[in-house]
Amino acid sequence: GRVIAIVPAAGIGARMGAAVPKQYLPLCGAPILSHTLRRLLSHPGIDIVVVALGEGDSWFDSLPEAGHPKLVKARGGKERADSVLSALGSDVFGEADWALVHDAARPCLTHTDIDALLASRSRFPQGAILAMPVRDTMKRAGGDGAISETVCRNALWHALTPQLFNASALKHNLEQALAAGAVITDEASAMEWAGVHPGLVSGRADNIKVTHPDDLQLAALFLEAQQV
Ligand code: CTP
Ligand code: MG
Repeated sequence: GRVIAIVPAAGIGARMGAAVPKQYLPLCGAPILSHTLRRLLSHPGIDIVVVALGEGDSWFDSLPEAGHPKLVKARGGKERADSVLSALGSDVFGEADWALVHDAARPCLTHTDIDALLASRSRFPQGAILAMPVRDTMKRAGGDGAISETVCRNALWHALTPQLFNASALKHNLEQALAAGAVITDEASAMEWAGVHPGLVSGRADNIKVTHPDDLQLAALFLEAQQV
């Protein structure tokens, strides 16, 4: 099957608190979403990129990438999972295609990380996600705001994107999990809900999600250091 990237880009960026959704904020001379799309569109292993946009989006069509021949638009939804599900409903998807889902808000994605995830398909045919082992000591808070215990971090990972699954399996499991009222914050959790155990692929530390205003400086430093 082909590899079709999905970019959920329909969020409002409430925690960023800017005048425009954070994916349209400038970063190193281009909007964040432009950086994200460029890294996906330029990867030879990615055949199509489907971007899920908010209903009132008046910014996307001004991006230089908007008219790219590999790019397809979809309508976003209420939550991130709804946006991904809507993109999976695009008629570009065939039965055997892979969906590589990547947050619009992660503009520092490298081809190195995409390569690692694509290569993991032989080891993890049911799909895999980029992730990072937890580095800090982890504490569980008690009701009083004090530490109740230290959590063993040996088996703990941060879930990142991209996340890679068979598109029809992901669509089916997302639909079922959402209909059952499960809390779905990434693609892997929908697959886990259906009993699948997706693979963990070590990703780079520079693939951060721009969430708060202070992340903008960090993302700029990483982009400049990458010199892609
Ligand atoms: N997203 C989406 N549709 C939604 C909500 C989020 O496509 N209904 C996308 C965002 O645009 C972002 C990614 O999912 O690229 C990760 O979400 P997050 O970082 O939470 O972005 P926002 O939801 O925009 O930010 P916030 O939660 O602070 O409002
Ligand atoms: Mg959000």
